[in-house]
Amino acid sequence: MNKYIEKAERTHKLTEDELVSLLQDPSSSGELAISADRVRAKYVGSGIHLRGLIEFSNICRQNCLYCGLRRDNPKIERYRLSEAEILELAKKAKSYGYKTVVLQSGEDIYFSVKVLTNLLYKIKEMDLAITLSLGERSLDEYRAFKQAGADRYLLRIETTDKNLYEQLDPGMSFKNRKSCLWNLKELGYEVGTGCLIGLPGQTLHSLAQDILFFQQLDADMIGIGPLIPNMDTPLAFAAKGDFDLTKKMVSLLRLLLPEANIPATTAMETLKADARVIILQAGANVVMPNVTEGDYRRKYALYPGKICVADTPAQCRCCIGGKIKSIGRYVAQDKGFRSHISTRS
Ligand code: 5AD
Ligand code: SF4
Ligand code: FES
Repeated sequence: MNKYIEKAERTHKLTEDELVSLLQDPSSSGELAISADRVRAKYVGSGIHLRGLIEFSNICRQNCLYCGLRRDNPKIERYRLSEAEILELAKKAKSYGYKTVVLQSGEDIYFSVKVLTNLLYKIKEMDLAITLSLGERSLDEYRAFKQAGADRYLLRIETTDKNLYEQLDPGMSFKNRKSCLWNLKELGYEVGTGCLIGLPGQTLHSLAQDILFFQQLDADMIGIGPLIPNMDTPLAFAAKGDFDLTKKMVSLLRLLLPEANIPATTAMETLKADARVIILQAGANVVMPNVTEGDYRRKYALYPGKICVADTPAQCRCCIGGKIKSIGRYVAQDKGFRSHISTRS
């Protein structure tokens, strides 16, 4: 076995240079996946957690250069679901057997503390775990959401290269992004973060630093995905993120953060058919099927070629159940909080 993979599987630690060496070695991918799959089985088992994703507003005050929801994109048809519609989707998510709903949106300030906490109380009554993914808010807002029943929060760091971050997310501060993550931790959320793979100007060293940052944060969840260039954004002509590099990143994440919940994300499947099944066998243990209905799915267009835009939530539930069975795994029946079994210091 490659000596760095052996070290990672045994100690869950690698240096930046060791990570770079594995990321640049074209022959390491298969062995990394096998090792990560073993660590996944040992630390988080064979259950796959399904999180029902509700994309409740595509309105965003930010202007990230890669994202179709950016405020300067006039081509996207904007929508915002009503409270009743969101509750209806949460109810349906529950009926498909999902134990968690992920409420995701652009940075839409219509969803104030008052509006959101109202909603959270009602969803909590359905006995669902709630993950929020609404971008940057103040410590007080995060606290209010937590008190109203939110359990987890997803906020990708996108890249730990400060200059690249501030260049690609104009008007946003890397320092503030990091302090949001530490605030969420402090408040007792399970914290999810992650990065984009293949940003123009991103190096393998920077990806290695991303992994070390997730370790330092002791992230509970890490969602990563390849950049998919969007024609309606300034990064229209950027190259796509590389699938194999994304897969290696997932495996390294599992090796270095053995207990984390790691999703096989939809952006990966946009690059390659059956990507989620491949990634679930390379370290991942979570899938986030979409429960948004009808045309809203298409309109939540972060990037082009999004999968399942013409499918119903019921079709996705059935499809994903079949894929999970086909690889000898099963749908976990608990709420899927992060496990704490390692002796990692
Ligand atoms: N390609 C892939 N992922 C994207 N995201 C935004 N735009 C793109 C794109 N063009 C990701 C960001 C964000 C998440 C909601 O979607 O990482 O955090
Ligand atoms: Fe808004 Fe997030 Fe898209 Fe940036 S990545 S434009 S914050 S939805
Ligand atoms: Fe949506 Fe397969 S997960 S159709």
